Amino acid sequence: MQYRNLGSSGVNVSTLCLGAMTFGEADESSFMHKVGCDERTAHAICDRAVEAGINFIDVADIYGQDGLSERVLGSWLAASGRRDELVVATKFRFRMKPHANGSGASRFHIVRACDESLKRLRTDRIDLYQIHMQDITVPEEETLRALDDLVRQGKVLYIGCSNYAAYRMVQSLGIADKRGYAGYVALQAQYSLIERNLEREHIPACREFGLGLLPWSPLAGGFLTGKYRRGTQAPSGARLERTRFNYSYYDKEQNWRVLDTLLQVAEESGGSPAQVALAWLLRRPQVSSVIFGCRSLEQLDQNLAAESLTLSDEQVARLEEVSRPDWGYPYSFIRGVQERW
Ligand SMILES: NC(=O)c1ccc[n+]([C@@H]2O[C@H](COP(=O)([O-])OP(=O)(O)OC[C@H]3O[C@@H](n4cnc5c(N)ncnc54)[C@H](OP(=O)(O)O)[C@@H]3O)[C@@H](O)[C@H]2O)c1
Repeated sequence: MQYRNLGSSGVNVSTLCLGAMTFGEADESSFMHKVGCDERTAHAICDRAVEAGINFIDVADIYGQDGLSERVLGSWLAASGRRDELVVATKFRFRMKPHANGSGASRFHIVRACDESLKRLRTDRIDLYQIHMQDITVPEEETLRALDDLVRQGKVLYIGCSNYAAYRMVQSLGIADKRGYAGYVALQAQYSLIERNLEREHIPACREFGLGLLPWSPLAGGFLTGKYRRGTQAPSGARLERTRFNYSYYDKEQNWRVLDTLLQVAEESGGSPAQVALAWLLRRPQVSSVIFGCRSLEQLDQNLAAESLTLSDEQVARLEEVSRPDWGYPYSFIRGVQERW
């Protein structure tokens, strides 16, 4: 396993991060129903991932149901005796309680959310605490000041943001710099061969300001594993068959074209489509660690092997070309003259 700096911080994280969104089985009332695995499987996945060198695990208070994924991870952390080797990341922002301040990025919610995550994770600190999505109703300064207090109290070591507009992320970095608060060291965002919109503004901003990128849903929820095929029913039991992450979002001609090339490259390289999709991301600029999901040991083993898969420059170029979005104005205009903006 290889390790990279977590964005602008000094801490080292494995280039593959274990996503814990699939930990625990939520009931029908949850958006996570039938996305996850049982606790025993989740613990076996953690054991094997850490044995393989993974030292970075990402979860969120909202995953599972009423903090279920954090609780499942917490019980493993407590039993494993390996807490101190690991970089544990979680998130706050979405609704955890039905009252008026049971969600959001206010100081009021953050202080409570952090304490509750610490309890569920059975730990005394969160290594990377991330705001799950920006909150336009709260001044960024209030959010940052509350997070900075948590850092000074030692409850949180580093902070990061997720699902931010690029302007807001840059604005936030400016406030942190001006006020001497802890600033975001990494951006967690959706990035894969079928979702490259980040390359317009976010990745250049990460490059300029030194943030690491943590791609989520790198396999597009399973679409890029090769088990979904054009014109056929989605496989029974898989996430895109059953949940609100509906199949129709993926079922687009452009995505099928990407998949065709991915399948070709997989065959040539001797890797699986999932491995090629992960290996492609591992080569992208600014990526600190790729947060993949799995809900069985077989899926884990296959995904772990992505780290040692070598793609040729020509294969990478083919994948890049087929998946390249229409940049639009002003990016296409700039690109007519210069390679990057
Ligand atoms: N910040 C955010 O807003 C945000 C949002 C989403 C996720 N995340 C983070 O990113 C992590 C990963 O997200 P994700 O679960 O959507 O990632 P993903 O890696 O794109 O999808 C994982 C799913 O794909 C299928 N799969 C994985 N490996 C496979 C393989 N080798 N062969 C066949 N199927 C395979 C499994 O689903 P099935 O078995 O059901 O097909 C698995 O649960 C999450 O755990 C979470 O930590 C963050």
